[in-house]
Amino acid sequence: MNNFEFQNPTKLIFGEGTIAKLAKNIDKNKKILMTCGGGSIKKNGVYDQVKEALAGYDVTEFWGIEANPDYATLMKAVEICKTQNIDLLLAVGGGSVIDGTKFIAAGSLYEGDPWDFLSGAATIQKALPLAAVLTLPATGSEMNGNAVISRRETGEKLAFGSKATYPQFSILDPNALRSLPQRQIANGIVDTYIHTFEQYMTFDNKTMVMDRWAEGLLQTLITLAPSLIAGNADYQTYANYMLTATMGLNGFVAMGCVEDWSTHSIGHELTAMHGLDHGVTLAIVWPGVARVMKEYKMDKLVQYGERVWGITEGTNEERAEKAIQATEEFFKSVGMKIKLSDHNIGQETIQRIVQRFKERGWTLGEFGRVTPEKTEEILNAVL
Ligand code: NZQ
Ligand code: ZN
Repeated sequence: MNNFEFQNPTKLIFGEGTIAKLAKNIDKNKKILMTCGGGSIKKNGVYDQVKEALAGYDVTEFWGIEANPDYATLMKAVEICKTQNIDLLLAVGGGSVIDGTKFIAAGSLYEGDPWDFLSGAATIQKALPLAAVLTLPATGSEMNGNAVISRRETGEKLAFGSKATYPQFSILDPNALRSLPQRQIANGIVDTYIHTFEQYMTFDNKTMVMDRWAEGLLQTLITLAPSLIAGNADYQTYANYMLTATMGLNGFVAMGCVEDWSTHSIGHELTAMHGLDHGVTLAIVWPGVARVMKEYKMDKLVQYGERVWGITEGTNEERAEKAIQATEEFFKSVGMKIKLSDHNIGQETIQRIVQRFKERGWTLGEFGRVTPEKTEEILNAVL
């Protein structure tokens, strides 16, 4: 187990009817910018609940933060914050709205171009306070300091992480999930599964509690997926799913671990170039990472296969392959198409990604073993 320091400052407010608690957590004199997506919160009643809870508050609304939030859209909100003395940002939506809001929060207190936080030209020193009402479990953004921002004009999708951009509090009412379409449920299940993998599926870190914790999250997702996907989930199913997604990327399962994150970095390119949903990219890329990097991940693949899927027969090589296949079948069972060719993506994209990683000097994964050449192999393995 590696040395580590752990601190997560976000207050989690969880359960039925909790949106009403907004007022208890925000001072009446604060000037709020409420940030929203494309309108799902108007259809499912979340917007009305937020407005009711904040009756009498000074609230300005900013609409139109799209899935894979775009720099150009977010800069309009940065301008509002800079000119209207906003005290607090309240994100109401999924990971994209929350990520976008983190960018706005940091960008509003920055003199230069906030894209610097994504390009690596600057690190975030301060940000406006932010809070969230979550409507889509997947990213863990409601309880972490990370954001992934797209820039459509250049076809880029990059991430930042900062202590300054953790939400002060996040409200999670599982009833907000009842309106989620099957596509977004599937995206969220796969995203949470791969977040867990990025922290767990490396080598034997001697992180016994974290291993069991990660395996618990994976098993919970496998248990809950059928009713979530079939659309007959009850409150407890939504509640457990929502908390699983948060726990998948709030730092808890990473304590003392060496992490991977190569699946995410490669997947972000597929979204940037082809607009694929984030979850879809992960279901495609991870099996390639697992097969190409198998020699380094063997112990963990075998452990995962045994503890999560009950695979105990065969050589380690056979057991690892069975574990990867079981994972692929799980992704397909939630409706994912897991090959690049299923999405009409071919060699041209592979070469563009490899070229980009070479230009950026990126080596990914635990210990930087996923070189651009390995990335090429990985993508060819999932063609
Ligand atoms: O825009 P609206 O109308 O609200 O519709 C959204 C959007 O179209 C809809 N939706 C959200 N809640 C709903 C709902 N529809 C019906 N009922 C509800 N309750 O779902 C669509 C997708 O929303 P989005 O926020 O884009 O999804 P998600 O939460 O999966 O976020 C994806 C983004 O997060 C980034 C991804 O790269 C991507 O840009 N990530 C952020 C991470 C982080 N901050 O730590 C880590 C992740 O690995 C990920 O990379
Ligand atoms: Zn993700």
